[in-house]
Amino acid sequence: MRMELESLQRESLARLQGAESVADLEQIRVQVLGKKGALTQLLRGLGGVSAEERPVLGELANALKGVFNEVLAARLELLQRRDLDLRLQSERLDVTLPGRLPSVGGVHPITRALREITDIFSSMGFPSATGPEVEDDWHNFGALNIPVDHPAREMHDTFYLPSGPRGEKRLLRTHTSPVQIHVMENRSPPLRIIAPGKVFRCDSDLTHTPMFHQVEGFLVDEGVHFGQLKGILAQFLRLFFERELPVRFRPSFFPFTEPSAEVDMGCLFCGGQGCRVCKGNGWLEVLGCGLIHPAVLSNVGIDREKYSGFAFGMGVERLAMLKYGIHDLRLFFENDVRFLEQHARV
Ligand code: FA5
Ligand code: MG
Repeated sequence: MRMELESLQRESLARLQGAESVADLEQIRVQVLGKKGALTQLLRGLGGVSAEERPVLGELANALKGVFNEVLAARLELLQRRDLDLRLQSERLDVTLPGRLPSVGGVHPITRALREITDIFSSMGFPSATGPEVEDDWHNFGALNIPVDHPAREMHDTFYLPSGPRGEKRLLRTHTSPVQIHVMENRSPPLRIIAPGKVFRCDSDLTHTPMFHQVEGFLVDEGVHFGQLKGILAQFLRLFFERELPVRFRPSFFPFTEPSAEVDMGCLFCGGQGCRVCKGNGWLEVLGCGLIHPAVLSNVGIDREKYSGFAFGMGVERLAMLKYGIHDLRLFFENDVRFLEQHARV
């Protein structure tokens, strides 16, 4: 039994020294000191040895237990420290690294431009109204003095939709002017409204996209004249661009206004020299306007002898590209995050 005790001591201490993990140590401890462990078994056999040998062997077993526990504790401490060192090394934080900012969303430049435009008009006493994006022929064309087969329809590359339940023609509105009709059908003058919204045309290049935004504006009252329209638009452009820029009113034609004009801004990209953006002519068209045609007033039951009005419809993307220096209108809708971040404002 002495020999067994001695060899158990040698063997178990060697195993402790060779253990590579805390779990290994625990396993060895159970195998030696546990209920069914080797030392426990040996001690159970102590009853069968002679009375002289028993105290000697008992002492030996206790000594073995003592040494075993000491070596176990030392090895445990060593392994735990080694684990901690490894973790400290692998999980080390470099406190000199710059912090990472949380990424914050921003407002799309078109939304920003729309807000700026509506704010300016609101300060001039024009509240906002909206209308449907899917329109019928009457509101988008007919009531605006554009009868079927009128050549002016060709100016609008219209997306037509399947006809409505009563066979009425339906389409994606090609401009925000139908909102004039909705408002005038339901309210009486004096009227002063702006109507921001999406419009759709089958068109795409540097300065055209199939979906874009317009802000319609109109005023109906007694004695309205072109000078007021010019004054309001010039003031708006000054406030929107926050500086004086070259602006020109160019005579034009719309079936729903008479007289009609289009407003061009000097091209900011070439200083009016002519470039790809302004197609070489030095000017970029930003809006159409005019005095509301008396036929339109009649179509919505407004007394054309008593009242007159002006109206305008501006291209929001065109205004935004000039204000923010964006040379290709299509960039607004590609949603490249680098572009959006560059122009985002919270
Ligand atoms: C109209 O749409 C008229 N309804 C404007 C109007 C309203 C005139 C009230 C008189 C009275 P026009 O098709 O020119 O007009 O478009 C108005 C503006 O929208 C243009 O000056 C331009 O700035 C912008 N625009 C037109 N087509 C596109 C397009 N495909 N992509 C981006 N902007 C466009
Ligand atoms: Mg035009």
